[in-house]
Amino acid sequence: MSPKLLTYFIIFISILIRSDDADLIKMTKIFGKVVSLGLNDAPENSGCLKTCYESEDCILAYFDTSGRCLLFNFNETETLEVEETTKADGFYVAFKVCLSACLFFRMSMFQTTYQNDTCPSYDILSLQVNIGPDPITWKKSGTTFSFQKCVGDWKMFHRTGPEITVCMQPMLPPTLLNITQSKEYCESMGYKLTGVATVEESKWILEKMKVVKPGLDYWVSFYIDGIRIEKCFEFNQRCNEFELSDGYTVIDDVVLNSTNAALTYSYNYIPENCLGVVDMGSSLTINDITCEASDLIIGLVCGYKLY
Ligand SMILES: *[C@@H]1O[C@H](CO)[C@@H](O)[C@H](O)[C@H]1NC(C)=O
Ligand SMILES: *[C@@H]1O[C@H](CO)[C@@H](O)[C@H](O)[C@H]1NC(C)=O
Ligand SMILES: *[C@@H]1O[C@H](CO)[C@@H](O)[C@H](O)[C@H]1NC(C)=O
Ligand SMILES: *[C@@H]1O[C@H](CO)[C@@H](O)[C@H](O)[C@H]1NC(C)=O
Repeated sequence: MSPKLLTYFIIFISILIRSDDADLIKMTKIFGKVVSLGLNDAPENSGCLKTCYESEDCILAYFDTSGRCLLFNFNETETLEVEETTKADGFYVAFKVCLSACLFFRMSMFQTTYQNDTCPSYDILSLQVNIGPDPITWKKSGTTFSFQKCVGDWKMFHRTGPEITVCMQPMLPPTLLNITQSKEYCESMGYKLTGVATVEESKWILEKMKVVKPGLDYWVSFYIDGIRIEKCFEFNQRCNEFELSDGYTVIDDVVLNSTNAALTYSYNYIPENCLGVVDMGSSLTINDITCEASDLIIGLVCGYKLY
């Protein structure tokens, strides 16, 4: 263990037991700074650590020895970076996290300083925030902790192959759009019409569509990314290869398998070479649909690659 580590300490504060969260919510305090943010203009609030602990939406308290303090709320934060400093710098951050990994350490009702041997997991300490729909872990790289979440209440999905994390949200544009206009709609807000990589994603989209559009009827679709490649519909080849344009999605074969998708190539002689998430009154979630505006296509799913 490096001597530098000895200068760090972790204090578990106010291990007050809430009836609902039991003893899972903790403030973990280290010497640190929010990257490129000073405290000169911050208000004085010597009780800010407690304020953060007690405020449901607070995820981080940033303060200095003179009692100036800034609080960061979950809903208003998309990215945050914290850099470890030393005691001499006089800056502190307190992460509000779920520290189940540290539960077995002895804790006191008073401030306790843990040295390396009482909290040996400092290096692998998992700082997990459990406020929104997805648990978010502060990632540590070198001496920097970073926090990243999706905008608003968008849903986060971790994908493997390739290993990326995406955010998505079904939406109802004000008018009926075709596939090109749907892409433009998402892009006008800085997002993409998202592709769907897994069955878990398409099932989540379908459930969220019913929230976005209460009373959603069967066969009413929301566009997702993907257009059947030309060789599949030229000469009636009938294959199911789709070209994606979001720039990050690789479709898992199972998504378009008959266990999850109803692909029919056309309906009433109208070609169906685009993809939508649809409630078909069964366990299937994906249908091939027309690329032209239709009153059976009322929405779309925007998304972006978070990291
Ligand atoms: C965050 O904002 C969403 C809507 O934007 C709201 O539904 C939710 O209650 C907020 N969460 C907290 C903890 O304030
Ligand atoms: C903790 O630090 C002490 C020196 O203060 C050292 O002797 C000991 O080996 C360290 N324990 C661990 C688990 O690294
Ligand atoms: C969609 O609408 C645009 C603008 O009206 C039009 O240029 C385009 O051809 C339409 N069809 C498709 C499939 O994009
Ligand atoms: C596709 O579904 C069939 C059953 O309909 C199943 O036998 C096959 O293993 C599935 N393929 C994949 C890639 O999941």
